[in-house]
Amino acid sequence: MSTTPNLAAGVRTLLSAEQIAARVRELGAEITRAYEGRKLVLVCVLKGSFVFAADLARAIDLPLRVEFLGVRSYGSGTESSGVVQITHDLSKPIEGEDLLIVEDIVDTGLTIAHLLELLSTRHPRDIRVCSLLHKPSRERKKVPIHYLGFTIDDEFVVGYGLDWAETYRNLPFLGIVEGTTAATR
Ligand code: IMP
Ligand code: MG
Repeated sequence: MSTTPNLAAGVRTLLSAEQIAARVRELGAEITRAYEGRKLVLVCVLKGSFVFAADLARAIDLPLRVEFLGVRSYGSGTESSGVVQITHDLSKPIEGEDLLIVEDIVDTGLTIAHLLELLSTRHPRDIRVCSLLHKPSRERKKVPIHYLGFTIDDEFVVGYGLDWAETYRNLPFLGIVEGTTAATR
């Protein structure tokens, strides 16, 4: 038996893998109903949304294509810089398409606000936002969230794609690293 502490050590569970899976199934069903007869483009916002987008895509029973948009809005700390940098752009034009932006978390709202502005200049038919998490207490910019997984308190969460200094993205559940509360920001 190994004595190496595992990744989950020191991480308090906020939402279990089962709770997340159940909510993702519900979101997928809701999106399937809403877009019936349409063909959507899922825009997975990297890196944080890669796990959520993979599960959500499989919970949507519609023809769709997946695009990846690389965005950097955080340094290695836990505070938004307010500066959004595109690190990887979409592979194709999106004119006339129905876009569904898939985000891991809407925190200050600055990232989504920027992406909505940027993508709308490319003339899609429609843009909606699906976010797994929302921290309303931190809002600096009001943004629409058409499909939302969970509303959470002002705590820094990791796992299920979300990182803390690039670590913890592969935790299968969402948790809080002990010692990283709002007060440490
Ligand atoms: P916003 O621009 O402040 O809304 O932040 C958006 C991005 O910041 C998210 O897509 C995440 O990548 C990151 N972020 C915000 N809060 C957290 C958190 O609690 N844990 C991990 N990443 C977060
Ligand atoms: Mg993100």
